[in-house]
Amino acid sequence: MEELEHLENKIKEADDLKILESVRIEIFGKKGVLAKEFARMKEIPNEEKKAFAQKLNTLKAKLTELFDAKKMALEAAAIEAMMAKEGVDVTMYRAHAASGGLHPVAETMNRIIDYFVSMNFAIEEGPFVDDDFHNFEALNLPKHHPARDMQDTFYLRDGMLLRTHTSSVQIHTMQKQKPPVRIISPGSVFRRDFDLTHTPMFHQVEGLMVDEEGKISFAHLKWILEDFLRYMFGDVKVRFRPSFFPFTEPSTEVDISCIFCGAEGCRVCSQTGWLEVLGSGMVDPNVFKAVGYENVSGYAFGLGVERFAMLIHRIGDLRSLFEGDLRLLEQFQ
Ligand code: PHE
Repeated sequence: MEELEHLENKIKEADDLKILESVRIEIFGKKGVLAKEFARMKEIPNEEKKAFAQKLNTLKAKLTELFDAKKMALEAAAIEAMMAKEGVDVTMYRAHAASGGLHPVAETMNRIIDYFVSMNFAIEEGPFVDDDFHNFEALNLPKHHPARDMQDTFYLRDGMLLRTHTSSVQIHTMQKQKPPVRIISPGSVFRRDFDLTHTPMFHQVEGLMVDEEGKISFAHLKWILEDFLRYMFGDVKVRFRPSFFPFTEPSTEVDISCIFCGAEGCRVCSQTGWLEVLGSGMVDPNVFKAVGYENVSGYAFGLGVERFAMLIHRIGDLRSLFEGDLRLLEQFQ
């Protein structure tokens, strides 16, 4: 009994896994206390053997139970200690944490999309590589229209081209869907152009709303663009200026009062007090004809996302948006 208590204490007192392991070898090992006791069996007189073995087995069971419990407790404590040491406090304040941020074009794109999604417009995407029909012909751009000039369009070898505007998605959408249509189409477009305000790839958002003849008027177009432009630029005046696009009739370009000088006249607005921000109009009947739509009316608009981003963030050179210069990008974290 004394021996038992002594061994029990040895297990209880082990306060780390290393010590416990040496205790295990001492008690349960091949040359351990228990092994030695069992080895004594052959010296025990036969009539006492059974009682001796029983006692020894009970002892072994008791010690095993104690040992297992101790081992589990020590292992749990070790994990606890490791977690306390290696854990990261994610709430801890760090003065100079470097963090990423959305690119100003992506951020502006998201804001534009948010507005139109909130107005129940669906999002459509079309191919970057498209054919003449979708990018030009169906949009009422006759064969020798200057917009098809080799100067502006990237033509590919097989007669395909890189879309020059997202208006091509108007055609794709109306070809696969019956009216009513209420979509926007955000995405990249490509033109052979490179200067202060042009890059060969930039982003547009197209809008198209079509319903039964007479249901959609210029007033709807005017209302939503005014509301949208105030959402983007704050308290600005909005002006619709007669213009021309082959795929809309009538066509208007839309200006906002200059956000830099409060319409007083400055360098950015060329002293006019106005900034041009998008193109729009009522969909030309020839476009509906090209996609087989009858007895419908609708409006369309298209805008350049980079231009919006430049105005909102007062960025002077469009090209700087594509140079990946951290000194510029870090300002948008
Ligand atoms: N596609 C025209 C452009 O790229 C914009 C536009 C779209 C104008 C829809 C009118 C209607 O300049």
